[in-house]
Amino acid sequence: MRFDVFSLFPGMFAGPFDASILKRARAAGTIEIGVHNIRDWTTDRHRTADDTPYGGGAGMVMAAPPIIAAVEATLGDALASTPIVVLSAAGRRFTQEVARDLVGRKRLALICGHYEGIDERVVEELGADELSIGDYVLTGGELAAMVVVDAVARLVPGVIAAASIVEESHDLGLVEYPHYTRPLAFRGRHVPPVLLSGHHAEIARWRREQAILRTARRRPDLLPFAELSEAERRAAVEVSDGSSAPSGAEQLPP
Ligand SMILES: C[S@@+](CC[C@H](N)C(=O)[O-])C[C@H]1O[C@@H](n2cnc3c(N)ncnc32)[C@H](O)[C@@H]1O
Repeated sequence: MRFDVFSLFPGMFAGPFDASILKRARAAGTIEIGVHNIRDWTTDRHRTADDTPYGGGAGMVMAAPPIIAAVEATLGDALASTPIVVLSAAGRRFTQEVARDLVGRKRLALICGHYEGIDERVVEELGADELSIGDYVLTGGELAAMVVVDAVARLVPGVIAAASIVEESHDLGLVEYPHYTRPLAFRGRHVPPVLLSGHHAEIARWRREQAILRTARRRPDLLPFAELSEAERRAAVEVSDGSSAPSGAEQLPP
């Protein structure tokens, strides 16, 4: 899969795209990432990419012409078949489900805003999808683009072991169960005995229970969409309502 990122600050991407799993995936050719400087498509000698907002107000707005020129020149014949994302605090929420939708595509283009944002006509002209990575405002879309590229790239077959991306947080609409590794005891805290039992069915049952409990306590907003049996749903709602008090080794109510 190929990612093309358009930004006024391409230098910001050097670290995150050049380390660890993304670095290996790029070296192996499993993914390709191109980072493009929007200023390269400006036409004046000051390389101006922004201007004051019509209607007044604070801050600067990124102008449409250099962004459109950059995207059209870079994507060429692939323009019509490539989903284009504009990172925006006003966009729809980027979730694991959106990442799963995007991973099926051969190519993805991402446009990073800065300052007050981007001229609205960029979204209209390109038929772009505006995505937000959360309900807060960043200084620019670069960090958001890194988040989207990272979350999508790790789902590309071959980027990480297939076994590592099943049963993850948000997979079945639940957050994940807790993990433990050596040492067995640390500062008086012990690994839950079931994980040492070697009994795979019991371990799977415990992990599912913990995932449901954590979701009920931390993210009750996810429960309506989680894949749960009727009994699990009743128990989870009881926990999230607080009608079932937490104990030391917590279990779902029967
Ligand atoms: C300072 S923000 C602009 C905020 C804008 N005036 C608003 O109120 O929605 C500059 C750029 O950062 C990016 N950005 C900020 N918050 C974001 C978020 N939660 N998700 C994705 N991109 C974000 C967008 O690309 C945006 O154009």
